[in-house]
Amino acid sequence: VDLVNAGTGLQAFRSALGSFASGVTVLTVRRADGTAVGMTASAFSSVSAEPPLVLVCVNRANRRHDDIVTAGRFAVNVLAHAGHGVADYCARPGAEKILDEGWLADAESDGPPAVIGTIAHFDCDVRALHPEGTHSIVVGAVRNIRLAPGGEVADDPLLHFRSRYRTLVSAPAAT
Ligand SMILES: Cc1cc2nc3c(=O)[nH]c(=O)nc-3n(C[C@H](O)[C@H](O)[C@H](O)COP(=O)(O)O)c2cc1C
Repeated sequence: VDLVNAGTGLQAFRSALGSFASGVTVLTVRRADGTAVGMTASAFSSVSAEPPLVLVCVNRANRRHDDIVTAGRFAVNVLAHAGHGVADYCARPGAEKILDEGWLADAESDGPPAVIGTIAHFDCDVRALHPEGTHSIVVGAVRNIRLAPGGEVADDPLLHFRSRYRTLVSAPAAT
C-alpha cells in the first residue's frame, strides 16, 4: 500500500485514529439524585491486571467529565452489536443523555448501571485523573465485573471503524 503523507492536522489525526478499529463502550454514572447518565466512548484500554485497572479518555468539555469526577465512580459498558441504539443515544452532543429504565439492563442497581446490550460491565472507582490536552485520562480501579455468558451471536461486539459502526465477521472455519 502506498502511504500518503497527511501531516499532523486535526483531520489527519482523526482519520488515522479512525483507522484503528475498536469496540464501543458507554460510560455510565449514577448521580447523587439517583439519575443515570451515559456517554459513548471508544478510548478505553486496560492498564493493569493486578490490581485490575482500566482507563478511559474523556473530553473535559463533555458534561460527563464532571459527572464522573463528582461521583468518583463510573462504569464502562462494552456493547454488543445490539447496543448501537444506546451508543447513538449517548453520543448526541449537547443532549442530557439521561438513561431511564428503557435503556437499562439493571434499573434497580444503585451503582453506575449497565445499559441494554452490555456484554461486559466494569464498575470502577476513579483512581486518578491525568489532564492531557483537551481530555482527562481517567484511571478506574475495577471494583466489580459483570459478564454476559458468551457464546451467543447476540454477544457479537459493536465495532467502530472509519466513522461507522461495523459488525464482526468471523473468518470461515478451517476445514
Ligand atoms: C463511537 C464514538 C466514540 C466516542 N469516544 C469518545 C471518547 O473516547 N472520549 C470522549 O470524550 N468522547 C467520545 N465520543 C464523543 C462523546 O460521546 C460525545 O462528545 C459526548 O456524548 C458529547 O456529550 P455532551 O455534548 O453532552 O458533553 C465518542 C463518540 C462516538 C460516536
